[in-house]
Amino acid sequence: MSIMNLRPEYLKEGAEEAERQRAAIERLKTRRETDENCTQTYFIQTMGCQMNARDSEKLKGILETIGCREVPENEADLVIYNTCCVRENAESRVYGRLGYLKSLKKRNPRLKIALCGCMMQEKTVIEKLQKSYPEVDLVFGTYNLYRFPELMEAMLDSDRPIFDLWQEQKEIVEDLPSVRKYPFKASVNIMYGCDNFCTYCIVPYVRGRERSREPENILAEVRALAESGVKEIQLLGQNVNSYGKGLENPITFAELLEQVANIDGIERVRFMSSHPKDLSDELIEVMGRVPKICPHFHLPLQSGSSRLLKKMNRRYDQERFLSLVHKFKAAVPEIALTTDIIVGFPGETREDFEETLKVVKEARFDSAFTFIYSPRVGTPAALMEQVPEEESKVNFEELLKVIEDIAYENHQQWVGREVEVLAEDVSKNDEHLLTGRTPQNILVHFPAGKRWIGETAKVRIKEASAFYMLGEMVGNQGE
Ligand code: 5AD
Ligand code: SF4
Repeated sequence: MSIMNLRPEYLKEGAEEAERQRAAIERLKTRRETDENCTQTYFIQTMGCQMNARDSEKLKGILETIGCREVPENEADLVIYNTCCVRENAESRVYGRLGYLKSLKKRNPRLKIALCGCMMQEKTVIEKLQKSYPEVDLVFGTYNLYRFPELMEAMLDSDRPIFDLWQEQKEIVEDLPSVRKYPFKASVNIMYGCDNFCTYCIVPYVRGRERSREPENILAEVRALAESGVKEIQLLGQNVNSYGKGLENPITFAELLEQVANIDGIERVRFMSSHPKDLSDELIEVMGRVPKICPHFHLPLQSGSSRLLKKMNRRYDQERFLSLVHKFKAAVPEIALTTDIIVGFPGETREDFEETLKVVKEARFDSAFTFIYSPRVGTPAALMEQVPEEESKVNFEELLKVIEDIAYENHQQWVGREVEVLAEDVSKNDEHLLTGRTPQNILVHFPAGKRWIGETAKVRIKEASAFYMLGEMVGNQGE
């Protein structure tokens, strides 16, 4: 774990606000050192997507700078849940765990409970928390995450719960400390929010309108990361293809990607997530031409039925989606395509589902995140006629099987070949193996010593399953 303090002269976004928060961090540090009853330890539970994972790195950076230590949940003085609201079960889990935290509070009166993230941007959630969960001490949302230092001070000074919730983002504040999980790979936010309003999705309501960061700030952040030893960058946004709209000097995502790849020291560039409707030929061209841009594209399908895609407000049809798939395969050598699919969207018939299967078989995805549709209050689809869950479950199982078979076949093509793997960690299941990813983002396990962590190893693939591959280092062995 490494704390990164980006040099403030690089980053001009929201500089005054960042200054105020840094001052609060300093006060909290003194307070923690001089008062043993002040928060000494913390635990953060992150739910949901990569945007939340990145936000948690920012919270951790602040807490570590204050001098707090990360400990297991039942030993912590401060427990933070960074929540997700894309599907209902993620929300139910939070309420369930609050019951458990209440019992911990009886044992440790110093325990403070904080909730943040997407779920906190929903009015109904806030009403429920205020009415029935008095044990929660601090609630903040997605637009004011950077105010955490001041909010933490307010929480420590107050006997009553603090709710700080904004309806929109006032400014983008980035230059605060941040803890990155790995010293050799890092995620960088390039934009926030989403303007697409897919009818099933709550994200546009809880993450707000699209806002792009200035390219010079992004490039400065990546340069600073490269200087500190980062090799792989993942650019993050809800909908990166529409990056740059609304900036004073508009720039396309493809241009930004190439500029990031040109930074010395950066070996791999990835990005998440895209929307097929805004996918440009320019982006496909740049991916085919610039070797440092990883040949992996996450292209969320959601449904293969043009009729349902219309009801989802996706603004592409099956034909357009498949033409993008074929363009990618023609232009980017050995590209891996991955996707998101929803089963059981309102009105889905067996014929609609079969259209999804048809696209899956033609696109031959390397992997897919599959979800059963979950109605979200406030979205148009929640008011449409729902399909019986039993039916969706049967289709869902069938889809999983088809996806798994295709992934298995795709991965067999790698057996016997040499691939480049950026070693990330010791394997969770076998301490003699390291785990890393190929440029295509396929997980590879191979025997090697820990000193290879953070290095790019040449690995010959010996075996492949639907979810990972096994290999051996080529040449000198990795002790
Ligand atoms: N129900 C099920 N899945 C959803 N997703 C978004 N909203 C819902 C919902 N209401 C899925 C989409 C999206 C992914 C992040 O989550 O597939 O791409
Ligand atoms: Fe949700 Fe659609 Fe925006 Fe993705 S593009 S975050 S699915 S509204």
